[in-house]
Formats: sequence, structure tokens, C-alpha cells
Amino acid sequence: MENQIWTQIQQQAVIPVIVIHKVEQALPLCDGLQEGGINLLEITLRTEAAIPAIKEILSYRPKMLVGAGTVLNIRQAKQALDLGCQFLVSPGLDEELVDWAALSSFPILPGAMTPSEIMHGIHMGLELFKFFPAEAMGGINTIKALSDPFPQVQFIPTGGVNSGNLTAYLRQKFIFAVGGSWMTRPDWIETGDFTRITQEVRSTMEKIKWIKESAQ
Ligand code: 3PG
Repeated sequence: MENQIWTQIQQQAVIPVIVIHKVEQALPLCDGLQEGGINLLEITLRTEAAIPAIKEILSYRPKMLVGAGTVLNIRQAKQALDLGCQFLVSPGLDEELVDWAALSSFPILPGAMTPSEIMHGIHMGLELFKFFPAEAMGGINTIKALSDPFPQVQFIPTGGVNSGNLTAYLRQKFIFAVGGSWMTRPDWIETGDFTRITQEVRSTMEKIKWIKESAQ
């Protein structure tokens, strides 16, 4: 199962990162994403609506792959597992959390953005990291420099990724996928502009198709 999750994420090449404030926005948001061609999302556990929104999505949109984001401790990770989330995302590298996820066979994407953090992660058996906050930390140039000594490692950058810089990231073989909120901007979710979300998703997926085709 674990491998299937990563395969699906890699195929989709993009993880919409969601900050949700009202549970009633959850299902139309999923419909907006699916209409545009995306079947996965990361709901960040930063708001009170996050847990009820995850429950709603898992109950009523079973085709959606749901990740819990901004997971900072085992308590939150257990909650996500109990709810039925399929993967976890954490902004940093917490040994206890990563060990617990490995023992529970719960796919986890922890953050690492320095050589020491990457080495620590490798020693723990990891080869895939979130790189956050990507643009603030130098974006693709920084990741390229980091990937030289760690050729076995791949990254999912998030933080400042958007339709303008997406291509530069996804062209590199050390980029597994990208994540971000540019397709699901909080103001569009807030005002219920799910059509806008579908449009942005559709244009992103077309761009990804073009990047993949031009790489062959
Ligand atoms: C994350 O949690 O991955 C980031 O907050 C997403 O960053 P973005 O809003 O700049 O895309």
C-alpha cells in the first residue's frame, strides 16, 4: 500500500496543500479538484475544521487520496491514521514521529532542508523529503546543490511553488513531485470559488503533461 501511495503522488506530480476553515467547503473543494483532474490532497492540521473536513472527504469522496499535513507529533499522526488518512506530511524531521510512522506502515513525508537533516533522514531509512519553505530557501538552485552529494534522495518542494516556477522544479529528476496552495488559494476556498480552482488545476495538469512529454 505504501508504495502505491507514492506512485500515485508521483504520477499526479502535484499535491494541493489545503488550509480549510469551514467543513462545508470540503466536498465542493474535492469536486473542484477532481473536475480538474486531481485525486489527492493534503489537509493541513492547522485549523479546527481540518479534522471534520478529513472525515467528510473520506466518507463521501472515497476516490480521493487524503493526506494529513502539518503533522507535528505522534498524537496527531495517530488521529490521522484512525481517521483513515493515507499519508502524513510534516514540515520537519522528527525522529520519534518518523519511527512511529515506519512501525505503523503509515507513509510519511518529513521535511529536511540541510545536509545534516538529510543525512539524519537517510540514516533513518528515508529517501524522500519535503523541502520547505522551498522558495524562501533558494528554490531549485538550493535543491540542485543539495542533491549532488545525495543522489539517492528525492524531494517534494513546497512553499512558494506556483504555476510560474513549477516547470523549473518538475524538470529535475531529483524532484519527485511538488506541493502548494496556488491551485487552492485560501481566498478562493473562502469565497467558494471552486470553478477557479478547477481552472487552475486543469491548467496545472496540462502543464505537467507537457513537462512529462517534453522530457521523453
Ligand atoms: C506547506 O505547508 O507545504 C506550505 O504552507 C504550502 O506553501 P504555499 O502556501 O506557499 O504553497
